[in-house]
Order: sequence, then C-alpha cells, then structure tokens
Amino acid sequence: MPRSQPRPLPLPRHFPIPFKKVDHSDPSHSALHVFNALWEAHFAADCLLVYSTGRSHALYEKLRAEVPPLRTPDALVCSVGTEIFFEAAHAAPIPDAAWCAALDAGGWDRARVEAAAASSAPELTLQPHSEQRPHKVSFHLSLQRSDAPPVLDRLRAALKEAGQLVTVIYSGGADVDVLPAGASKGKGLAFLLGQIAAAVGPPPDGVLVCGDSGNDIDLFEVEGVRGVVVANAHEELRAWAGANKADRIFEAPDRCAGGIAAALRHFGLAPGQ
Ligand code: GLC
Repeated sequence: MPRSQPRPLPLPRHFPIPFKKVDHSDPSHSALHVFNALWEAHFAADCLLVYSTGRSHALYEKLRAEVPPLRTPDALVCSVGTEIFFEAAHAAPIPDAAWCAALDAGGWDRARVEAAAASSAPELTLQPHSEQRPHKVSFHLSLQRSDAPPVLDRLRAALKEAGQLVTVIYSGGADVDVLPAGASKGKGLAFLLGQIAAAVGPPPDGVLVCGDSGNDIDLFEVEGVRGVVVANAHEELRAWAGANKADRIFEAPDRCAGGIAAALRHFGLAPGQ
C-alpha cells in the first residue's frame, strides 16, 4: 500500500497534549481504551492530539509497537521538547525543521556539554545512544533525591563556565537532561502552538496539557493552558503542583490515561459519566 502523506493539521477546537497515557502496570490498557472511546466520540473530528515525551522518536516507536491501542497523534514533541514531528498513520513522520533551526541559533555545542559534565559530575553516566539527540545530552543519576542537588549545582556551574546557555532538567529521581536554554517540553509546545496560530488561528476552546514528571513542569507554565497532573506523577511534579495551586490545574485521582479522561470531564470538555 502506498504510504500516504500526513494530513494537514485540522483546525483545532481543543488541543490536548495527552502524555503518560500508558499504564505499564495494566497490561489490558483498560484506561487507554476508555480514553480512546472518549476521544473518538468527542474530539477526533476537530481536535489535535499531541504527545509530548522525554523519549526519542526511536523509543516512542518501540512503545507504540508494544502498546497497539496507543493512537497515532497529529504531532509528537519528543526528546524532552527538542524535536517536533508531524505524524499520521502509515506515513513517514515529518520533522519540524523550523524548531531545529531555532535551537541551533543559540550557540549550543554538544561536545562542550559532555566535556563539562565529565569534568564536573562523575556521578552522571550517559544514557543509551538512542537518547543522545542533536539538542539533548542525557544522563542517569543513581543517587537519592536528597543527594542530587549538589551534583546538579556543580554541573550547572561547569556548563556556565564553558559558556553553554542550557537548561538542566532532573526527572523521575533518576534522569538528568541537558538541553539548549531555548528548549524544553513547554518551549516546544509554545513553538508548535505559535505555528498553529499563524496557520489557522489559536484553538478556540484552548489547550489541555498532561504530565507526570519534572520534565513536564514547564508544559503547565505555557500561557493560557489548562493542565492535569495524573495520580501516578513523580514527586517533583507533585511538589510543583502543590506550590502552584490554581483552578486551571487539576490533580486527577486517576492514573495515566484515566487521569486525562477525568480532566476532560473536570474541565467540561467531555460530558460527565
Ligand atoms: C525519557 C528519555 C530520557 C530522559 C527522560 C527524562 O525517559 O528516554 O532520555 O532523560 O525521559 O526526561
């Protein structure tokens, strides 16, 4: 069968960013099936589905193969916001070249980042090759959360000394990502929203973002969005949500896709049960 091109992005009514939809503790993916039914009934026709993930595109593909009910999104913001792809079923993903060029503009130098990390923070070990991306250097940090801050401080100081304008993100109590200062999940989303607004106008009913860890915090800080913190969220996002209570942020009682479905109802975007 010929591979079709991704369809042009439709005019979005809502623009949810479901993330952490997959509950690995539920092999039947029951909450994902409930989410899919809700999405099909109320959103699929005129909304955009965007996944924002820390994973590289390669790891995302692996996840999709393992979890058949995971729907094809309209766009994928991956590698902690450093790469954006336009997606469609049976079509090759199209990278967002404008975002890549924007990140190149800030003087980012991968080799310098790696050298600064090696000399300042030997506790950090490089993640697998697939997770080292053009605008992302990622490490594992196998320490108690309470022991991480001095390591991160040393790393930040060495990166500053090396003249690198970067963002350092600590997630899940185990991962450390170094990204160009202009990159993050939130900045990737803001860029994508800007592209959509320029093409078809802003989504009239807004944007809902969803998250579960430290690399999601700045998704919630994108101007004008509503957000859901799912019940299985890590400590760093919980702490942020606790310190930033607002009507526009919903701390769901349900895990993963179940939390997203609950938020769609909570915000009146989908009918209640
Ligand atoms: C994902 C990525 C990893 C990153 C982590 C936290 O697990 O694969 O590279 O460090 O998210 O952002």
